[in-house]
Amino acid sequence: MRLILTAIAALSTIAAASSGTVFASEKIDAKAGKALHDKQCLACHVQRWGGDGSAVYTRADRKIKDATALRQRVAACSAQTGSKFFPEDEANVAAYLAQQYYKFK
Ligand code: HEC
Repeated sequence: MRLILTAIAALSTIAAASSGTVFASEKIDAKAGKALHDKQCLACHVQRWGGDGSAVYTRADRKIKDATALRQRVAACSAQTGSKFFPEDEANVAAYLAQQYYKFK
């Protein structure tokens, strides 16, 4: 009985700790986001838009207008391209793009 209670206590501690990473907005790491972005996302954008590929984010008719749309787009692109980002990776990549290019008001 004692053992079971200890196990339950341990599990709920783990659950509490990991829920912090699901909502990763408090622990954003835009630098890590840049590294992931450059590895997984850049080449295709460069191929299509030339230069450093950033024109996709800065073109006049860019599609993404707010942080929520950006987050969704990063998640969709990551799923489509098989990047296997975790939610915190997506948050970090979105944070990097927002800081570097989108600069939402
Ligand atoms: C196989 C090519 C390819 C890969 C890989 C790719 N993208 Fe894209 N991305 C595109 C194309 C094409 C568009 C433009 C689509 C459009 O105009 O609707 C785009 C557009 C975007 C936009 C919207 C730009 C805007 O505001 O209009 C974002 C954000 C974006 N990509 C993020 C990413 C991220 C993050 C990754 C990596 C997980 C990624 N992309 C990987 C091809 C790619």
